[in-house]
Amino acid sequence: MHVLITGGTGYIGSTAVEIMRNQGYEITILDDCSTGHADSVPQGVRFVQGSLLNPVEICDALADVDVVMHFAGKSLVGESVEKPDLYKRVNVDGTRNLLDEMSKVGVKKMVFSSSAATYGQPQEIPIKESAIGAPTNPYGSTKLVIDQMIGEESRRRGIAAASLRYFNVAGAMHCERGWLAERHDPETHLIPNVLRSTAIDPVKIFGNDWPTPDGTCIRDYVHVIDLIEAHIKALETLTDNHHEIYNLGSGDGFSVRQIVDAASKATGYAIPTLDSARRDGDPAILIADITKARKHLDWRPTRGIDVMISDTLESIR
Ligand code: UFG
Repeated sequence: MHVLITGGTGYIGSTAVEIMRNQGYEITILDDCSTGHADSVPQGVRFVQGSLLNPVEICDALADVDVVMHFAGKSLVGESVEKPDLYKRVNVDGTRNLLDEMSKVGVKKMVFSSSAATYGQPQEIPIKESAIGAPTNPYGSTKLVIDQMIGEESRRRGIAAASLRYFNVAGAMHCERGWLAERHDPETHLIPNVLRSTAIDPVKIFGNDWPTPDGTCIRDYVHVIDLIEAHIKALETLTDNHHEIYNLGSGDGFSVRQIVDAASKATGYAIPTLDSARRDGDPAILIADITKARKHLDWRPTRGIDVMISDTLESIR
């Protein structure tokens, strides 16, 4: 099977490329490298350096492809609050272009990187896929619009699709070329920031007055390798005319302080922290109900928070 992986030079996309290449899938990558890294592309993988905003480049990348795994996009909650138009253009307009080009060349299968940010702060925790979408930031809004767009495309054109709603992806993967890990600049994600914290530049804790037991936000962390294993299961179970939505998380929640404590245990010293103001756009608690992915995809995450932290630690040492 020939898979087009958009965003295949980024943190999650490059892990998908590595795992799927090892499993014998033929792969083409489409990435503009605006946040990814061309040096992550393995030998023997076709790489089109191009943009979702350029239909000619998309069409080139789609040559002989059977299915698209669509990871490319802007993905930072904080940045999206500052630059909502950029998020709409790249995420929504870019995906529209991709779906249009897929239609022209007859590619009818897609697995999409959606997000828990589509839910906002639902009344019920853990969050089921049936929860009403009410994003608290522009990033989540773009992902919700795209999920709806793919659903419409499935009804209209019969495409087989899955939207995978990621909770907080963490951890890293070691391969022959070294570690595939988070290399964002600037880094905004909690676990890498905690592990890079120093007395001079301590990690900021965004809010200590949230309605949670210790006052810090609670998130559901899932290891990037477990996440990609779910993608492959979703890919292999795509059904014509069907668009399925699956939550991908662990089903467990950890507060920011619990992450700092677990990281202090892993490093062997107390991680310095600085209590700071809340970050715009953050919901208080996000925990996934992963029953649907367990049942329909026969998927379960096997790597816990300690593995996510130790892999990230190894990757930055
Ligand atoms: N946080 C800090 N200090 C930091 C970084 C983060 O206190 O230096 C806090 C945040 O306020 C939040 C939690 O740690 O409460 C996790 O923040 P991240 O930035 O690591 O991740 P987010 O929850 O903002 O977002 C991530 C992905 C999104 C996805 C979301 C879904 O980046 O793409 O998880 O749960 F939508």
